[in-house]
Amino acid sequence: MSEIKEAVRSRYAGAAKQLAVLSPDSNAGCCQVDGPDCGCAGSYSADELNQIGISDAVSLGCGNPTVLADLKPGEVVLDLGSGAGLDVLLSARRVSPGGHAYGLDMTDEMLELANRNREKAGLANVTFLQGSIEDVPLPDASVDVVISNCVINLAEDKSAVIKEAHRVLRPGGRLAVADMVELEPLSAAVKKRLDSWAGCISGTIPIEEYRAALIDAGFAEPEFEVHATQSLPGVGKVGSAYIRARKS
Ligand SMILES: C[S@@+](CC[C@H](N)C(=O)[O-])C[C@H]1O[C@@H](n2cnc3c(N)ncnc32)[C@H](O)[C@@H]1O
Repeated sequence: MSEIKEAVRSRYAGAAKQLAVLSPDSNAGCCQVDGPDCGCAGSYSADELNQIGISDAVSLGCGNPTVLADLKPGEVVLDLGSGAGLDVLLSARRVSPGGHAYGLDMTDEMLELANRNREKAGLANVTFLQGSIEDVPLPDASVDVVISNCVINLAEDKSAVIKEAHRVLRPGGRLAVADMVELEPLSAAVKKRLDSWAGCISGTIPIEEYRAALIDAGFAEPEFEVHATQSLPGVGKVGSAYIRARKS
């Protein structure tokens, strides 16, 4: 495992342990621990959280991709970097009856927490998979919607992740992602810091680079909507974006 990937894994193994002893002020998030305040607060309604019996405090994301995805009963959904599983469980309810929600994560501690949350939610149409988002353990054209929440920025090879998302989607399938993006160039010093990479800052890329990677992978009509921004004095500027695209 590369140094960057190990820094990311180790950070989220620690975050999973913090989340496991949940409190509403839990401070384990990508966005909340020495990372940018990405405006994720309030992304989930109390109503939808009550339905799955878990708290917003288990989100380490930067938005709510399940709303963006416009999920329908019968669809198959894959969440890249599913963490404690909140978006997977919400998706599972939305695609029911007949649909299925997969979560994929590389961190064992997160998968354990996600499986506990699945049991609490009492949902049968959910599977958490162990693996890398750069090498998704699902067949070609097997998924209707790929979602992800604050994860693709953490990957060293974002093009590989985006190509995998495209590969597993059926023709006409949708990509609906919340992610951090670079809005003003980050300093060279911060780009090299492993802690800032794992904290969703240093691995961010500009929107035009993201768009080019989507188009290169074969996605049509990529759309970006920045919904929160964070200036980091002496470091640069990042933001949380909703990103949508379709496999033609
Ligand atoms: C910032 S957290 C977001 C978790 C979740 N999406 C959420 O919104 O709460 C990032 C998650 O992605 C996982 N992750 C990061 N890079 C990964 C990779 N290359 N392959 C698989 N999982 C990865 C981490 O283990 C962690 O659980």
